[in-house]
Amino acid sequence: MATAVFPGSFDPVTTGHMDLIERASAIFDVLIIGVLNNSSKSPFFTIEERVQMLEKLTSGMPGTSVLPFNGLLTDFVKMTGADAIIRGVRSSSDFEYELPLAQANYKLNYKADTLFLAARPEHSYISSSAVKELARYKGDIRGFVPEEVYQFIKQKFDSLDS
Ligand code: PNS
Repeated sequence: MATAVFPGSFDPVTTGHMDLIERASAIFDVLIIGVLNNSSKSPFFTIEERVQMLEKLTSGMPGTSVLPFNGLLTDFVKMTGADAIIRGVRSSSDFEYELPLAQANYKLNYKADTLFLAARPEHSYISSSAVKELARYKGDIRGFVPEEVYQFIKQKFDSLDS
């Protein structure tokens, strides 16, 4: 059974992430969504919130599962026994950032081979950081995130305001 890991911060999950998850899960028998829980990054959404969001969004997708991970991605890949890592690329600057990471990951664990999926053009401007910035200033983030995530973010920002 071909297994892939789709790693990320998912802070929060965007429409672009969901498109990549759907496409990767159509290629692989098993897709493990690895949610980074490294303490050096200070995410806006807790690890529990990010895992919960992804579990809800993938509940109807057979073969997918969601797991938090700490430390190195290559160790997580080793632990899962996955055959590949999936990363999405939106632009040439994404590729420049991703290529050395993929090469370093391969050096650390030859089983951690990275496959890149090209983001669809309609998602190329979407990023989790843009979503957070827009949400902070009450911009309309519908179209950037799935409806479930929109409701979740709205509640979180409303509770911070009150
Ligand atoms: O969604 P992101 O923030 O672009 O995902 C980045 C991620 C999680 C793939 C990357 O930061 C990562 O793999 N972190 C784990 C630590 C690690 O293995 N770093 C690579 C060193 S060569």
